[in-house]
Amino acid sequence: MSDNNNDIPGVPVTRRLPKTPIKEIGGRKLKPATLMMGHGYDPKLSEGSLKAPIFLTSTFAFESAAAGKHFFEGITGKRPGGTDGLVYSRFNGPNQEILEDRLSIWDEAEDALSFSSGMTAISVLMLTYCSAGDVIVHSGPLYAASEGFVAKVLSKFGVTYLDFPAGATREELDTLLDKAKAMAAKQGGKVAMIYLESPANPTNALVDIEAVCDARNAVLGEDGPPIAIDNTFLGPLWQRPLNNGADIVVYSLTKYVGGHSDLVAGSLAGAKKWMDPVRALRNTMGGICDPNTAWMLMRSLETVELRMERAGQNAAKVCEFLAQHPKVEGLGYLGMISDARQQDIFDRHCSGAGSTFSVFIKGGEAESFRFLDSLRIAKLAVSLGGTETLVSLPAAMTHLSVPDERKAQLGITDNLVRISVGVEDPDDLIADFDQALAAV
Ligand SMILES: Cc1ncc(COP(=O)(O)O)c(C=O)c1O
Repeated sequence: MSDNNNDIPGVPVTRRLPKTPIKEIGGRKLKPATLMMGHGYDPKLSEGSLKAPIFLTSTFAFESAAAGKHFFEGITGKRPGGTDGLVYSRFNGPNQEILEDRLSIWDEAEDALSFSSGMTAISVLMLTYCSAGDVIVHSGPLYAASEGFVAKVLSKFGVTYLDFPAGATREELDTLLDKAKAMAAKQGGKVAMIYLESPANPTNALVDIEAVCDARNAVLGEDGPPIAIDNTFLGPLWQRPLNNGADIVVYSLTKYVGGHSDLVAGSLAGAKKWMDPVRALRNTMGGICDPNTAWMLMRSLETVELRMERAGQNAAKVCEFLAQHPKVEGLGYLGMISDARQQDIFDRHCSGAGSTFSVFIKGGEAESFRFLDSLRIAKLAVSLGGTETLVSLPAAMTHLSVPDERKAQLGITDNLVRISVGVEDPDDLIADFDQALAAV
């Protein structure tokens, strides 16, 4: 029997909950970097083990039949608010719960959910909120698989979509939402979700989240559809979209949070009222992050700030070099924005320029291929946010499935090389880019 004082009223067992979290000391609110070392975990509940063990089990023993019933009432929604016990590993587990508690700290969210990949998080989220006849409104471009899920999968279930360019103004957003509302009414549905990706992959175009929130409130009402945003490129350090009016923040944890290119996972965070329906569908479909990956993510979260800060400093130095190079046509780097509206969005929403950017090589695919094939430190691979520098050519790789016309419209050209700078020595990286550009 647990010795802590969190008995569940009316149930003759206690859940072994960790001690009350310490979130402030002497009125000082503790920073996420501090909380990543222990929040949500109590060594007393695991034989004193300083780090959480990995709980490899498919199911959890109930202390009594009444406890089992009580937990299932939470799982099935018979009692609102979710379960307060460990039941079955498709629903929850200690590693995932600690991870989710820690993830919610970064975005100051009430609740978070972990998934087996970023795309699982996105698919379960969209399936939760969209029904036949509904319209989903999204910014463009999105990561190709997210766009594909909307256009090719949700469409099979009678969900249609409208998209807008990332930099759209308040007036353009109002017009589009009016159109979406009329479209939904005609289809017998509703505008179910506004889905954003900012910065967008791979162009780094920013969405004005505040303008989207104002437009939603004006056209669809404050109790209108949730605004979800994929914050993979800048989160959790350099952009906190829930503070700018978004309701749900989406991550591919595979990227900066995992940070070592050795796992695949995803997450959602937001108010409990938005997370509860998603948790219910995750319970049914599966897709929760596995315990081993959750453990690795907790290890990664201890250094996420250090890694991202160093990667951000490296990217600034590398971009200074690339911007001057005669074989470089331009850069899509948030530290060197040339468009006044994009700069205004950056100033209001972002606290750092990140370490993933695009470089436009003078020429086309052949010149870009020569550059990529000549690199000796940077690795030629898709993905981003790892400790090592990665380079790819989106038009030929991650965004190959995007129709040519749409690629042209979104600026995903054959000479757009995407670079994700890691934590190596920045001058070594510059030497590598210098010799590879010489080979173009
Ligand atoms: C912006 C963005 N969102 C979502 C995803 C999908 O994440 P995952 O590969 O973890 O499913 C990616 C993957 O590259 C991405 O770049």
